[in-house]
Amino acid sequence: MKRIVLIITGLIVLLVISACGNMSPFDNGGQMSGDHMNKSEDGNDSSSNSMGMMGHDHDMPLQSSTGENKLNIPPMLKSDKETEDEVYYTIDAQQGQTEIFDGVQTETLGYNSSFLGPVVKLKKGQTAHIKLKNSLDEETTFHWHGLIIDGEADGGPHTVIEPGEEREITFNVQQDRATLWFHPHPEGKTAKQVFSGLAGLLYIEDDLEDTYEYGENDFPLIIQDRTFNDQKQLDYEAVKDPDGTMGETLLINGTLNPRLTVNKEKVRLRLLNGSNMRNYTIKLSNNQNFEQIASDGGLLNEPVELNEIQLTPSERAEIVVDFSQFKTGEEVKLMMDDGTVLLPFKLNEQGKDSESEMEQRKNPVTISDEAMQKQVSKEINLSGMGHHVSINGKKFDKDRIDLTQKQGETDVWEIYNEPDMMGGMIHPFHIHGTQFKVISINGEEPPKNLQGYKDTISLDPGDKARIAVKFEETGTYMYHCHILEHEDNGMMGQIKVE
Ligand code: C2O
Ligand code: CU
Ligand code: CU
Repeated sequence: MKRIVLIITGLIVLLVISACGNMSPFDNGGQMSGDHMNKSEDGNDSSSNSMGMMGHDHDMPLQSSTGENKLNIPPMLKSDKETEDEVYYTIDAQQGQTEIFDGVQTETLGYNSSFLGPVVKLKKGQTAHIKLKNSLDEETTFHWHGLIIDGEADGGPHTVIEPGEEREITFNVQQDRATLWFHPHPEGKTAKQVFSGLAGLLYIEDDLEDTYEYGENDFPLIIQDRTFNDQKQLDYEAVKDPDGTMGETLLINGTLNPRLTVNKEKVRLRLLNGSNMRNYTIKLSNNQNFEQIASDGGLLNEPVELNEIQLTPSERAEIVVDFSQFKTGEEVKLMMDDGTVLLPFKLNEQGKDSESEMEQRKNPVTISDEAMQKQVSKEINLSGMGHHVSINGKKFDKDRIDLTQKQGETDVWEIYNEPDMMGGMIHPFHIHGTQFKVISINGEEPPKNLQGYKDTISLDPGDKARIAVKFEETGTYMYHCHILEHEDNGMMGQIKVE
């Protein structure tokens, strides 16, 4: 008797399912998601910035710089000791107070200072010894973003330094000149510590001739957005957003409302997007062209003429602006494509008789064309939003190795930014301990300024990119989305290189 009831129930269930299968709502559902896919693909073609945030509640305008404050130029860190072959530094993560707003002390974090950090300079061929001190009241790590370094010294979430502790790392500087940076990477706490001020620049130099002078006609611009509360304090917990924290207040090198005085000559600007999630499309107020000479990993094969450049979190670009082309009295500004003023310039009358130039690199890229033809051996799928972000359907687990690769061998990775029902968002995908080459984006050759070394690649929703990745050193390295809240929410994996 029971069995018959079960069979009958089963038949009814089957009938209902097959009937539903023929019903139109199901078909519509299928079509609807198809439409969504098409829409987000259309969005990619326009490659517009806002498309990347379609459907995500992320439209916080940034306030323009009034230019009332002189741009802070970070000091060069003094070495403890330096010879031809060796250099010793001490870097101390500390708490302090900074006068960002006139007459107000803001609680901040910094390296060897109360806010942000100095520029650490390393020369190719040197052995570097860096003493890392944690004077904070919480754990931290020191990560060298873009540096070719072994996994132990790379400063990922495994190499925590407890409050009051210190540690020394030693490594050989093996890459060509580049503008890199360093920041903390403790598991789940990166966004907050960077937001509070922990970030510094790391310059790699080599023996290529270069007549630009730091602070004269060669300036770093660390671009960040922040939100301050009524007491002008940084209250991360109050403003954090699981899809990336934005702020309406612009800081460059920690300076509010910055301006920069330049001579009428060629000036090199080393741009770093040090924001937690905001993307910037940067141009000059009169639409004048500039040259991009370097990307994340160093000099491009040849300078590329541009009139705007997009930087997603953690990306760098070195650009050269020829200020001799501006008329006296002309107002020149670095701007965003939406009209926000980032940095007004003041032009000094004098120019230089001798132009600053940089020797042209012969062939900076060592990943061969042959290696770039290899089959895809690693697939990375970026998906989700907010707390649901994942890579290949998984969240970060520090006890799980997701991928392996052989030291010195080039592998082709394919990275896909899977759109979601709301369109999806841009994910800047970053790998530690390496500089890679972009082979293609959606099957096409990347634009010229993405043909140099990169450590972060920005993917619009629906984008699929192929990159050629080689690790020179061994160890366990992170790869992750560089929206810092996505990283903290587990959009990160680990690769073991042996
Ligand atoms: Cu800027 Cu995991 O790095
Ligand atoms: Cu990194
Ligand atoms: Cu992301």
